Amino acid sequence: MTTTTRATPQSSFLPAACNCVLLIIFFLLLSSPSQGAKNPTPAATLCDPENDHADDGSTLRVFHTFSPCSPFRPKGHLSWEDSILEMQQKDVARLGFLSSLVAGKSVVPIASGRQQAVQSPTYVVRAKVGTPPKTLLMTMDTSNDVAWVPCSGCVGCSSTVLASTKSTTFKSLGCSSPQCKLVPGHTCNSGACNFNTTYGSSTVAFNLSQDTLKLAADPIPGYTFACIQKTTGSSVPPQGLLGLGRGPLSLLAQTENIYKSTFSYCLPSFRSLNFSGSLRLGPVGQPPKIKSTPLLKNPSRSSLYYVNMIGIRVGRKVVDIPPSALAFNPTTGAGTIFDSGTVFTRLVRPAYEAVRNEFRKRVRKAPITTLGGFDTCYSGPITPPTVTFMFKGLNMTLPPDNLLIHSTAGSTTCLAMAASPDKLNSVLNVIANMQQQNHRVLFDVPNSRLGLARQLCS
Ligand SMILES: *[C@@H]1O[C@H](CO)[C@@H](O)[C@H](O)[C@H]1NC(C)=O
Ligand SMILES: *[C@@H]1O[C@H](CO)[C@@H](O)[C@H](O)[C@H]1NC(C)=O
Ligand SMILES: *[C@@H]1O[C@H](CO)[C@@H](O)[C@H](O)[C@H]1NC(C)=O
Ligand SMILES: *[C@@H]1O[C@H](CO)[C@@H](O)[C@H](O)[C@H]1NC(C)=O
Repeated sequence: MTTTTRATPQSSFLPAACNCVLLIIFFLLLSSPSQGAKNPTPAATLCDPENDHADDGSTLRVFHTFSPCSPFRPKGHLSWEDSILEMQQKDVARLGFLSSLVAGKSVVPIASGRQQAVQSPTYVVRAKVGTPPKTLLMTMDTSNDVAWVPCSGCVGCSSTVLASTKSTTFKSLGCSSPQCKLVPGHTCNSGACNFNTTYGSSTVAFNLSQDTLKLAADPIPGYTFACIQKTTGSSVPPQGLLGLGRGPLSLLAQTENIYKSTFSYCLPSFRSLNFSGSLRLGPVGQPPKIKSTPLLKNPSRSSLYYVNMIGIRVGRKVVDIPPSALAFNPTTGAGTIFDSGTVFTRLVRPAYEAVRNEFRKRVRKAPITTLGGFDTCYSGPITPPTVTFMFKGLNMTLPPDNLLIHSTAGSTTCLAMAASPDKLNSVLNVIANMQQQNHRVLFDVPNSRLGLARQLCS
């Protein structure tokens, strides 16, 4: 990796022992949310969608959808149980989408349980599209390549759309354009490049288009994206999706000259809603020294970030998992990915059961109850063992905040992971965003590695 030429705005790559100091520093920084910048921004203006002072250089602030700054915050008061159940339900739709990517075919959307399965945006960043620019809070999605933007005339979109008919830099891409040829399954209608996809419980119809995209201070003219023309269901992120995959039409591929296929993020915990994390694009300002594991290439699933998980440790014990449950297989798509859009980590059943059984053995507490898809819950506090995902060259040891969810009243504690839903027949282990929160995760494609360091971003 290139050595940094600009000082890292965070002072946060410190050992865990420094967390207390860090916390204090962080509270001091709260009054200047642009991380030590000269012009402190009062917290309230952060919620103003037009205020992009907090987005700086090539770094964007990342908000959780439940944040007071988010227009997607659920209306009304959801109980703790209900919000967990809702997140799990949305995860099932997400996993359906990931399984369809892996299987290379559409999987029938599953709508089980109490309500229709929808995916939700979990983390959003502010982007500007078009001339004059339209501010959109787009969902970060590491497992999608193409950005999705709701456009003028969209049937089924919310009211926040790019006025594509009025943007002076907007251009519809023709069917014979080289970009259109990169879209699998595209069709041609009166010269326009159209394609459809399913996402959670939604079907979406797109036109391939181009316009200026502005991320933080960086304008990207002629950015190719999917203009949403029609959508059904409620799974599509209301203000679009910023694909951070690494396939041919991705942001990474289109900004190779400025961002060198490198980015990192720190996702804020959804328990500290007034905090935001950051998405840092490009090699500048990335941690120069960070532990990493090789990224694996799967030519037929080029957008996914596969890594090689070689084992899982609970406490000091490496649990007994059949090697096939962890092995990377480019043909079937089996293996382990990092995903920003799934909330709770899912392991294929034999792997999950080995982890859960050892976890229960160590906690030694009865009775064990369930909550929705979580099967290892306790009433009252517990002393959990550590859980470590062992990747080639990198151990990710989860502190309790990344391992357990607690009800606000403190009466229930659950192990915040589950087995892949049986119905999906999934071969994927998904390291999800709750387990990634408060870590800096570096995607360094040129050096084919994924870096990881604890960082308190919330
Ligand atoms: C979060 O911010 C909102 C407004 O910006 C404020 O009303 C609220 O008290 C804050 N909550 C916490 C826990 O600091
Ligand atoms: C999208 O494509 C359809 C043809 O399938 C066309 O009618 C429509 O005008 C196109 N929209 C834009 C914004 O290019
Ligand atoms: C895509 O969806 C549109 C609108 O729902 C529909 O008219 C069109 O036939 C679909 N195209 C394909 C290739 O399925
Ligand atoms: C990860 O943990 C295992 C088991 O404790 C240990 O053998 C291995 O050396 C560790 N790997 C790294 C990269 O620290």
